[in-house]
Amino acid sequence: MLKKVFLIVVFIILPHLSERAALASLPPQLTDKASINEVIKAMTLEEKVKMVVGSGMPGMFGIPKAEIEGAVGVTHAIPRLGIPALIFADGPAGLRINPIREGIPNTYYTTAFPIETLLASTWDTEMVEAVGSAIGDEAKEYGVDILLAPALNLHRNPLGGRNFEYFSEDPLLTGKMGASYVKGVQSQGVGATLKHFVANNQETNRMQIDTVVSQRALRELYLRGFEIAVKESKPLAVMSAYNQINGVPASENKELLTTILRKEWNFNGFVMTDWFAGKDPIAQMRAGNDLIMPGEQKHITRLIHAVKSGLLDEEILDRNIKHILKTVVKTPSFKGYEYSNQPNLEEHAQVARKVASEGMVLLKNDEKTLPLDKNAKIGLFGNTQIETIKGGTGSGIVQAKYTVSIAEGLEKQGFKLHQGLLSSYKAYVLSLRQLPEYKSKPGPLGIEFGLVTPRIPEKPIPSNELQDVVKDTDSGIITIGRISGEFEDRENEKGDFLLTNEEQSMIETVSEAYHQAGKKVTVVLNIGGPIEVASWREKVDSILLAWQPGQEAGHAVADILSGKVNPSGKLSTTFPMKYNDVPSAKSFPGTPKDNPKVVIYEEDLYLGYRYYTTFDVKPAYEFGYGLSYTSFHYENLEVEKKKNNIHLNLNVKNVGDVKGREVVQVYLTSPNGKLEEPLLELKAFEKTKELKPLEHQLVEFTLNLNDLASFDEKKSLWVVEKGRYKVNIGTSSESILQSTTFRIDEDIIVERVNDY
Ligand code: BGC
Repeated sequence: MLKKVFLIVVFIILPHLSERAALASLPPQLTDKASINEVIKAMTLEEKVKMVVGSGMPGMFGIPKAEIEGAVGVTHAIPRLGIPALIFADGPAGLRINPIREGIPNTYYTTAFPIETLLASTWDTEMVEAVGSAIGDEAKEYGVDILLAPALNLHRNPLGGRNFEYFSEDPLLTGKMGASYVKGVQSQGVGATLKHFVANNQETNRMQIDTVVSQRALRELYLRGFEIAVKESKPLAVMSAYNQINGVPASENKELLTTILRKEWNFNGFVMTDWFAGKDPIAQMRAGNDLIMPGEQKHITRLIHAVKSGLLDEEILDRNIKHILKTVVKTPSFKGYEYSNQPNLEEHAQVARKVASEGMVLLKNDEKTLPLDKNAKIGLFGNTQIETIKGGTGSGIVQAKYTVSIAEGLEKQGFKLHQGLLSSYKAYVLSLRQLPEYKSKPGPLGIEFGLVTPRIPEKPIPSNELQDVVKDTDSGIITIGRISGEFEDRENEKGDFLLTNEEQSMIETVSEAYHQAGKKVTVVLNIGGPIEVASWREKVDSILLAWQPGQEAGHAVADILSGKVNPSGKLSTTFPMKYNDVPSAKSFPGTPKDNPKVVIYEEDLYLGYRYYTTFDVKPAYEFGYGLSYTSFHYENLEVEKKKNNIHLNLNVKNVGDVKGREVVQVYLTSPNGKLEEPLLELKAFEKTKELKPLEHQLVEFTLNLNDLASFDEKKSLWVVEKGRYKVNIGTSSESILQSTTFRIDEDIIVERVNDY
């Protein structure tokens, strides 16, 4: 019996006791959300501070490269508490990591998707979700936890250097696209980041500039896209912006980061700074900027000292850490996900190609110039046919394995390119690129941020060469390219917003020669933002805005030019007749002109089409505009006013002779009440399915009270003013096809908010 007791004690009870003793001496482990409080309690002050400061800029300033090379940020791990390091990488058009790692034969290429402006021009939320999901998958399979995208700043001015990374001039389109993108990314178990919060609408002096903007314009425009995306897609992270807003740096702005983002919108993730933003880490902590990125030793030293000296309440650190840990427990690194380093790049290339053709916008198509005959012989002009631009530079660049050039894409699809002309372009571009002045150089932050490639002048086309090409081909295509990127805004100059003299003369001489021969000319714009078109568009027969369409550029252009895909993209941003028509032309990028410190958003609510429609200024191509190879008829608009919403439906019919998709846009005209209002505001949209000739679709919309509300700055509330509202349904902001009205009998206060 005694022996039995002994055996039980030695073999059954003792091991458990020692296990328990060992466990009792172990600090608490981060296991799930419920364990977070205990884990924070067990942290030393240094550990707490390290949780809120990233571990430095990988590969720079003596910091080792991240394990995932090209990732731009890593948080501190605290292994004794079971907290892993998180890996952060850019960006909006695809995952930005280094494709080549020293001493490793494998490659780590990622898919270059089209720029956000093209994504928004699809007006197709499902398509954008599919892109987000593919980018999220690449992030997950390459070991990244947090993707630094999507970017939700508005196109305040067409010269904004990073506009290509942003969706639109309109907050609703931005918010819906942002929400879909986030849903896609996060469906893969990777966190998405809404950036740059907020009113970061220019690159000039971006780290110092003070953006002066009314509360109403902030709430109705600049914050609105973020609000929609936060509420509809629950992003795990938000990145505060570099700039100041009405005198307070975004990363130190408690009203923005805590009152608006968390209290009013119920944001539940964590906030990080933009890279090296802000000056005062204590103010950042207090404001609710939970994490300083990429983090520097000086921040750690300063914050430890601040807590010790009583300057910073330790509870603020605890609160911020909690926000971060709530996210940590959702990440692949925390879950020990074994990434494959082998995302399905072939499948994602197909997604990139499909979305690229869905977001290209047909701006002009006289006498059905397009689609081209499948076997057409083509004279292809312009350097960009060879050096096709997949996207912009800076942190929004993607290191893809290849870019299909426009020339390659057209040939692959069976078009017969004039070989003599093609070879002369190849030789010209190649030879000029050998000259020292045209060699590509790494940008200010190295090759990972993209190469700065000086523009080479358009190849001169001797008239005998041109005559031969025209004789031997059925039609001409001219490519025009532009690129921009982080750190710099664009210029209202030749070679940027304006065409160069060489480009103008290429358009002129090529068009003249083809027209004399009774043949037609198409221009393909491979650009990231609007350029001036009014001075030359009459000279050509059709214009395809291909944007910067990602690595499948040439294939997607060919899909449209051949008619394999019927264009259905609509402009997400206005193309003005001339730069001076832009409502912010005078105030952008701030004053004093030579070194701007302050930028005053004088146009207030009148951004983009809100301005052009209200003040009757005719743009070259308006917001929402885009042609198709078929046409649509809108009929039977019905409106029904319900207790808390307005229900609309109408019938859209394909009345042309090829299948196609239409984007139905709902613009609201508010009554002349106490608040001044733009003439039109986009309140809803829907892209139809692909409709066959004569097929129709019932399109339905529900406008809720907060869709109708305007912001009353004096009272700090959202109100639906009484009066007659006009619903305008159309195919662009200038082309309204059906309208109806409804009345609101009494003012309805929808929400009272903090006075910002
Ligand atoms: C950009 C961010 C980017 C970060 C990390 C900053 O310069 O403004 O958009 O996510 O760098 O690369």
